[in-house]
Amino acid sequence: MADTAKRPVKIVETVLRDAHQSLLATRMSTEQMLPIIEKMDQVGYYAVECWGGATFDSCLRFLKEDPWERLRKLRAGFKNTKLQMLFRGQNILGYNHYADDVVEYFVQKSIANGIDIIRIFDCLNDIRNLQTAVKATNKEKGHAQIALCYTLGDAYTLEYWKDIAKRIEDMGADSLCIKDMAGLLTPYAADELVHALKEGTNLPIDLHTHYTSGVASMTYMKAVEAGCDIIDCAMSPLALGTSQPATEVMVETFRGTPYDTGYDLTKLAEIAEYFRPIREESLASGLLNPKVLGVNIKTLQYQVPGGMLSNLVSQLKEAGKEDKYQEVLEEIPRVRKDFGEPPLVTPSSQIVGTQAVMNVISGERYKLVPKESKKIMMGEFGQTVKPFNPEVQKKIIGDETPITCRPADLIEPELPKFEKECAQWKQQDEDVLSYALFPAVAKEFFQYREAQQTKVDQAVADKESGAYPV
Ligand code: CO
Repeated sequence: MADTAKRPVKIVETVLRDAHQSLLATRMSTEQMLPIIEKMDQVGYYAVECWGGATFDSCLRFLKEDPWERLRKLRAGFKNTKLQMLFRGQNILGYNHYADDVVEYFVQKSIANGIDIIRIFDCLNDIRNLQTAVKATNKEKGHAQIALCYTLGDAYTLEYWKDIAKRIEDMGADSLCIKDMAGLLTPYAADELVHALKEGTNLPIDLHTHYTSGVASMTYMKAVEAGCDIIDCAMSPLALGTSQPATEVMVETFRGTPYDTGYDLTKLAEIAEYFRPIREESLASGLLNPKVLGVNIKTLQYQVPGGMLSNLVSQLKEAGKEDKYQEVLEEIPRVRKDFGEPPLVTPSSQIVGTQAVMNVISGERYKLVPKESKKIMMGEFGQTVKPFNPEVQKKIIGDETPITCRPADLIEPELPKFEKECAQWKQQDEDVLSYALFPAVAKEFFQYREAQQTKVDQAVADKESGAYPV
């Protein structure tokens, strides 16, 4: 090692967000988290990622929990550790572009309820879609981390990454994250990438990857040696497979080196013991599918996320065209090129995947076009790194004129409308944001919450009136 100065690597613990989103369909409840957070708070993690992404929707939809209440409880328990959330730029945590007033209010309330670091990304890496969230985070004195979706393709040269890193620093980001959602970043490519980023920016660099293709812990090692400052890991019972490398393993890998975290392995082992039964129960119930725990080399072979491959299989099955799998796999890169070579992450991964399926099963390219494909070609998601294929664009949108501005510039303020629509259920300021993101699901949750409260009130009234023996 040429550089012997101490440079402890920082670790973001993902077990309370990405790890269970990747392995357990985001079903870990607040009740399952709370008993261990005091111990987790003693580790010395750089941050604990615990909110945002799919956790919000899952709380409301499946767990019948108020996501804001979860955040407040976690904040109360984590007295020393920074809390981090994942935020999809102008989409916030949903799938549409929201007006700036909603984005700003969401950031304000996230920080007010306990978030320290907001990781903000856009599926096209169109940094205009990050501006409002970054500015709002700066204003609320939060840490704005901009995440770039890592992908491969002609457009994604080291020059591209270096240049965009510089632009991100100019935008007001406090750190930069490489978000490798598909596990495409191999160890030696990570070495080159981190060196290039370090040339482009002075910002701390965080690497976020998934174990899907089996290379992730080696990738972290090379990245850290190249100067990467922060790595995202998950406690071993919910690590590997489609989740992150294991925290304990990375901590021990770097022990005694300049990158030594200094974390106490005994403490980590105790935390791991806490999560182990959750893994075992999830395996037994089928919530955790052993299939996602293996190595999926197809992600490297076809450069598509694992989740996208399984979606393809089910789409083809539904259409009774399973024999077309190989053809669709070959069509994906062509569609991606026609669509300006975007990274493949929600929602661009679904759009490109579905279009490829339709191109193959209809027997004619772009004969069937879902409305999301049209939206992307109309510029409604933002700008792609390369121009669209003009012939394909013409075939899809005809004579309509695509937009070239930041999509949210065309959206009028939306908060007043949402406030009005959810007024009858509102019990706290934050409810309007739950409603704005997932109207139907939030409404159902609000009704459930009221019904629960009525039950409790009735029980108290019965007790006071002597209906129950004391
Ligand atoms: Co992730």
